[in-house]
Amino acid sequence: MTKKYHDIDMLPIDLLNDWLLKEKSVGAPNPSHAVLSTCTSNGLPHARVVAIREIDEQGLLFFTQRGTRKVNELHNNSFATMTFWFELQQRQIIIEGLAITLSNLDNERYWKTYPREAQVRFHSYAPTSAQPIVSKEVLENKKKQIEIEFDAKTLPVSPFYCGFRLKPSRMIFYAYRTDELSDVFEYRYIDEQWKKQWLSP
Ligand SMILES: Cc1cc2nc3c(=O)[nH]c(=O)nc-3n(C[C@H](O)[C@H](O)[C@H](O)COP(=O)(O)O)c2cc1C
Repeated sequence: MTKKYHDIDMLPIDLLNDWLLKEKSVGAPNPSHAVLSTCTSNGLPHARVVAIREIDEQGLLFFTQRGTRKVNELHNNSFATMTFWFELQQRQIIIEGLAITLSNLDNERYWKTYPREAQVRFHSYAPTSAQPIVSKEVLENKKKQIEIEFDAKTLPVSPFYCGFRLKPSRMIFYAYRTDELSDVFEYRYIDEQWKKQWLSP
């Protein structure tokens, strides 16, 4: 018989990590990507994929480029939603919360963990991220210039590099089932603790 989830008594962050690990163990090469949805202050939504770097009780950490739409929107309205879709297990997790800006010190700390090639790439595209460019060659030339300029030197933190931590206040777990009704439950953070309840699929 397929396992039911209502016996699970885990903190939602632990359950997210558990579902992530299971998705990986059944063959998903990189399930640590989520769709991040943000909204302008007048209510126009936009969504895109970001790589999730860390998940712990503090929240979900991701990095991006200053000047992009998501950063501008988060500065005006810090409420955001992240959606994970684990295709191999037919599971969805929706996380609502506040996106908190990382300090410059934290940004610097994470920047140093990147391989040099990733730092060079970031310096090349970040200032124009999501903006129109004449051709890709423009960026490739810029990348070559940076490689020459910094040759054996350490690359400084890009002024465009910035991280956010999404601090969840609501998490919805959806396990799609075809053998019977799907399992759906949500956790809400109320009075400094997580309250769980079942939802109808
Ligand atoms: C697999 C994948 C991973 C990505 N990871 C990131 C990321 O970690 N951070 C980021 O800013 N953009 C990432 N992007 C690009 C974003 O989806 C987006 O196109 C870009 O950041 C501009 O977003 P915006 O203009 O909506 O703010 C990724 C795209 C893909 C397809």
